Amino acid sequence: MERNEILKVLRKIDVLPTFPAVMAEVISVINDPMSSAADLAKTMDPSMASEVLRVANTAYFGTRSFRTITSIEHAIAIIGLRPLSQIILHMPFLSMMNGVGPQDTKKFIRHSTICAITSQVVSQTLRIGDPHAVYIGGLMHDIGAIVLYRYFHTQWQVISGLVRENGYTRVQAEEEVLKCDHGMIGACLLEMWNIPQSVSDGVMYHHSPGNAAENAWNAKIIDAGNRFAKQADLSDRFTNFDDFVRNNKHLVPLVEKLGFEASLCEELRLYEEVYALMKNARPLLTATGEEQE
Ligand SMILES: [Fe+2]
Ligand SMILES: [Fe+2]
Repeated sequence: MERNEILKVLRKIDVLPTFPAVMAEVISVINDPMSSAADLAKTMDPSMASEVLRVANTAYFGTRSFRTITSIEHAIAIIGLRPLSQIILHMPFLSMMNGVGPQDTKKFIRHSTICAITSQVVSQTLRIGDPHAVYIGGLMHDIGAIVLYRYFHTQWQVISGLVRENGYTRVQAEEEVLKCDHGMIGACLLEMWNIPQSVSDGVMYHHSPGNAAENAWNAKIIDAGNRFAKQADLSDRFTNFDDFVRNNKHLVPLVEKLGFEASLCEELRLYEEVYALMKNARPLLTATGEEQE
């Protein structure tokens, strides 16, 4: 499918009108620790802000708690900007999926978040790529799959048939039917919303990092984060670090595939960081999924 044809469909996507501005602001707040939570709050319309707070409250305090988060600034202070950014950046896609989608919502959120966290840690630890861009790109890397399911449904059914009956991988089937994959579709959407190219390139090439002319490291890292997330142990309750390492041994070969031989010390740091961030995100992931199911 031609890029113009894709864009024509994407323009019809009806997200909350303030979302692209909010997204850009989340990115600038993540990129710039000096910018304030108040700036982020200002970009959200009241209905979006209240939805974000509803999810944050349910995730962190449950529905029966007396404690509540009352404003976006308050939410950042209590749960941190990163977990909050996970809620914000997924908001329109959760509503697009509306409980039904190419895969279940909980799995989708977990997969995207684990990819984002791992990509960021790999980028920071090995000092390659842009850790902020790969974090945001990791969160958004598969949004094209939701768009495909929702707005290109006829093609989606043909693609699913090829996967089911002809043994194609999903990306091969997408290429066959659309002449592009969900990475490209997701990236077109992000570009339409003026999201920086360092992010959209990572999304576009997460299944074909070798094709990235620019931001190739970001694409390679998100590819690794995606592979890690696919095999990550989702049952982990993050109570024992040694178990986490044992159950997620596939992280090291993925890093090596990037061309790095991590020292033992770096390996340990990778695992420690991924473990800590995943543990921190856990309440949010669990609650977000349950909310949607
Ligand atoms: Fe993907
Ligand atoms: Fe993925």
